[in-house]
Amino acid sequence: MTLRAILAGTGSALPRTRVSNAELATRVDTSDEWIVERTGIRFRHIAEPDETTATLGADAAKQALAAAGLEPADIGLIIVATATPDNTFPASATKVQAILGAPDCIAFDVAAVCSGFLYAVSVADSMLRTGAAKHALVIGSETFSRILDWEDRTTCVLFGDGAGAAVLSAKDVDDDQGILATRLHAEGQYCDMLYVDGGPSTTGTVGHVRMQGREVFRHAVTNLASVLGEVMADVGLSADQIDWVVPHQANKRIIDATAKKLGLPAERVVLTVDQHANTSAASVPLALDLAVRDGRIKRGDLVVLEAMGGGFTWGAAVLRV
Ligand code: ACO
Repeated sequence: MTLRAILAGTGSALPRTRVSNAELATRVDTSDEWIVERTGIRFRHIAEPDETTATLGADAAKQALAAAGLEPADIGLIIVATATPDNTFPASATKVQAILGAPDCIAFDVAAVCSGFLYAVSVADSMLRTGAAKHALVIGSETFSRILDWEDRTTCVLFGDGAGAAVLSAKDVDDDQGILATRLHAEGQYCDMLYVDGGPSTTGTVGHVRMQGREVFRHAVTNLASVLGEVMADVGLSADQIDWVVPHQANKRIIDATAKKLGLPAERVVLTVDQHANTSAASVPLALDLAVRDGRIKRGDLVVLEAMGGGFTWGAAVLRV
């Protein structure tokens, strides 16, 4: 028997308001054609004032708990991956804990921007396997609309708000179920290529997203293809044994180029960027939940998660569902 973190349930939440490219084009100098051609994005959800990173995260968490057949009191660890916390402190994870009514447990945030969910999964996997908790809620939740410069058309058309959650449970298994490998990377010398131009210890403001789009694109394809190769080598499996890839949903061209580099057919890649745009740390768990709920991802499938974001940070995970 081997102690592994298994995927026990997933959930997601989206803000009530959905904005099409055409609607955006009435406020920003852009067009549906430009956005679809360069990114594949058609819609994004934008949070209303009463919808925050913590409330969206808690809504996604409730669904994931229900899917896992667990109560908030069963959870020993809550990790929220976010770059847009409700407050500088406390951690959004503690706010989610309060909304859920979960009693004393471990709760903290992880900041790795778009790859935050991969970082959070990797940390939870380690903590579950070393006995820190029996069940963990791993959440990616973002309200990026609050840190966008709505005058900057090169960035504001790319992002949306939302949350996704997964319950990971420690379980003794005698097969290859659960998280089989994770890999994380960071190269801080690229921190000026995708960043927010404010923060508590510099400007004392929240700031806005700034990005060198072409450089990000180039690094994303190289890094994601490379880390996918690493995790597959870790588990001794080849790309043709993958049932589903759930990539970070930044841009359809990045997803297509990465899949092509690995020889993965498009039919095995979960794509939601057209509906949600880039929801940063929420994008992978949101896409995972949709594919689980619509029956594409089934028990026994080999699933690979991958993401890259500001820092640069990037990572991947392989799991047998
Ligand atoms: N609408 C219309 N025109 C636009 C827009 C817009 N929203 N934004 C830029 N343009 C114009 C530019 O002004 C430029 O015009 P010009 O030629 O007259 O100067 C033209 O379009 C081309 O601009 P580029 O920036 O060169 O366009 P590019 O082909 O590089 O596409 C994009 C831009 C889509 C941002 C691309 O670089 C990209 O996808 N990069 C990856 C960035 C990304 O996905 N980041 C997400 C966060 S990181 C992550 O999650 C991995």
